[in-house]
Amino acid sequence: MKTIVHVIGARPNYMKIAPLIEALRTGSPFRQILVNTGQHYDEMMSQAFVRDLGLPTPDYDLGVGSASHAVQTARIMIEFEKVCLAERPDLVVVVGDVNSTVAASLVAAKLLVPVAHVEAGLRSGDRTMPEEINRIVTDRLSELLLTPSSDGNQNLLAEGVPTEKIHLVGNIMIDSLLQHLPLATLDRLRGRVAVEPDGYALLTLHRPSNVDNIDVFRRILAAIATIAEQLPVVFPVHPRTRERMREFGLATGLANMTLTDPLGYIDFLSLTSHARIVLTDSGGLQEESTALRIPCLTLRDNTERPITVTHGSNQVVGTDTGAILAGFRRAMSPAGPVPRPDLWDGHTAERIAHVLCKFLAN
Ligand code: UD1
Repeated sequence: MKTIVHVIGARPNYMKIAPLIEALRTGSPFRQILVNTGQHYDEMMSQAFVRDLGLPTPDYDLGVGSASHAVQTARIMIEFEKVCLAERPDLVVVVGDVNSTVAASLVAAKLLVPVAHVEAGLRSGDRTMPEEINRIVTDRLSELLLTPSSDGNQNLLAEGVPTEKIHLVGNIMIDSLLQHLPLATLDRLRGRVAVEPDGYALLTLHRPSNVDNIDVFRRILAAIATIAEQLPVVFPVHPRTRERMREFGLATGLANMTLTDPLGYIDFLSLTSHARIVLTDSGGLQEESTALRIPCLTLRDNTERPITVTHGSNQVVGTDTGAILAGFRRAMSPAGPVPRPDLWDGHTAERIAHVLCKFLAN
C-alpha cells in the first residue's frame, strides 16, 4: 500500500489539509500519515483547529515551537527527516506558504520523495515577505503544483515550470468554509462578543511588517479608531500582535473595540460571515471574505491573491491612515453582486485526490 504523508504546522494549514484527508480516506487506497510540526502550539492556534475541522489526531507531533526562521526551519527539517526515513512515503503533501511548508519540501525533495504543493503558484512579488520565499522554493521543489486560481498557473508557467506539473484545482480552503458555514452563528459567541449581524467590522493583524514596526502599527490603529466611531470593531489578537501591543503600549484607549484571544475555526468563521467589513493583513481572510462576498480591506502594499481583487470585493489599501479610510468609505457604499471565482466551489479536495491518485498509480 502506498503512503502519503501530509504536513501541517501553523494555523492557516489545518483547513487546507482536512478536506483532502477526508477525500482520500473515502476515495483512495492509500495509507495516510499526518505530521504536525508544532510551528504553532497554543491551544487556540493549533489543537482547537484540529478539533473543529475533524482532523485525525496527528501520527507525529514534532514539537518544534517558535524560533528565528533559520532555527525553526532547521528544527522542522531535522525532525521531519526522521519521519520520512521511518515511513518511506511515496508522496509528501504540503500546503500554503509557512515555514513548515518549505522545510518539509526540502527534506522530501532531498530524499527523492515527490512533493505535492496545495496552493501553488501564488506570488506577491515581494521578497521582503518570508512567505514569498517559502512559496518560490516550495514550488521549485514540487512535482505536483496544485493551483487555486489561474493566476497561479500563469506565474508558474512564467517561471518555466512544465505545464504537465501544474493542475488548476481551485481553492481547498473554501471546501472547509462551505462545509462549516451552517455551524457559523453569532450565538456561538454569546457572552464573549456582543455584536449584531452586519453591524461590525472584523480586524486581524499579524504580519511582522505591520505589527513589529510601531509607526506602521500606530497608523493602522489611527484608521481603526476612526472606523470604530461608526462601526464597532472586533479584533481577535494574534500572539505576536498581543506581545507588540504590550511592548509598544498600544493596548489602551481603543474605544468601541472588542479585543479577544485567538478564536477557533468555527467561531472565527462565525465572525467573518456576519461582518459588515473585514480589515486584515492575512492571506486566507482575503479569500474567505471573497467567498463570502464580504468587503475586505487588505492592510498591505500587495497581495499574492489578486483574484480576490478582480473577482471579489477586496481592496489592497496599504497601511496609510488616509488610504485605509478612503478604502473604508468605498467599501461601505453598495456594490453590485460579485460572482465567486471559478472552482471555489467546495469540491477542490476531490479534484486534488483525483490528481494524486493518478500520479501514484503511475
Ligand atoms: C506564521 C506564518 C504566517 C502565517 C501565520 C498565521 C511563517 C513564516 N509565518 O506567522 O505565514 O500567516 O503563522 O498565524 O511561517 N506564538 C505563540 N503561540 C503560538 C504561535 C506563535 O505565542 O502557538 C507567538 C510566538 O511569540 C512567536 C510569534 O507568535 O514567536 C510568531 O509566531 P510564528 O509562527 O513565528 O509566526 P507567525 O507570525 O504566527
